[in-house]
Amino acid sequence: MFAKEDCPRRRKGSRFPEDAWRKEDMIGRLNHVAIVVPDLAAASALYRKTLGATVTDTVDRPEHGVTTVFVELPNTRIELLHPLGDRSPIASFLDKHPSGGLHHVCYEVDDIAAARDRIVGEGGRVIGDGEPKTGAHGKPVLFLHPKDFCGTLIEIEQA
Ligand code: CO
Repeated sequence: MFAKEDCPRRRKGSRFPEDAWRKEDMIGRLNHVAIVVPDLAAASALYRKTLGATVTDTVDRPEHGVTTVFVELPNTRIELLHPLGDRSPIASFLDKHPSGGLHHVCYEVDDIAAARDRIVGEGGRVIGDGEPKTGAHGKPVLFLHPKDFCGTLIEIEQA
């Protein structure tokens, strides 16, 4: 059994049993789920009006080649993404999925370098040169190869 202070990432009200969190666990909270959309204004309106969610303003992120809107939920965020510029990394995704689609999930980690080393040591591939980049929230992030993770693009972010 761990003391409560050993379990800082467990959320209040979680149905997850207290002793199910192990010290060797690495990924923590689901930071966000990213969805690529063909029309950001329409997607924002859909989340705000139809689904009744709090939606942030639209922000261009030229350094990432995307325009983003965040949907704020009580337990996580949804990141709505649209390509920005000629060399957007999500342009081909939208070509393949013209009505939009689930792009990636982002899990928080305490130490991104340690997380990368563990993942690579276990045979998982990190996309790019392996050095963390600054993500949409100003924190270090890395992306993991979907072929190694159940067909899902995973972003890890140092919380
Ligand atoms: Co993301």
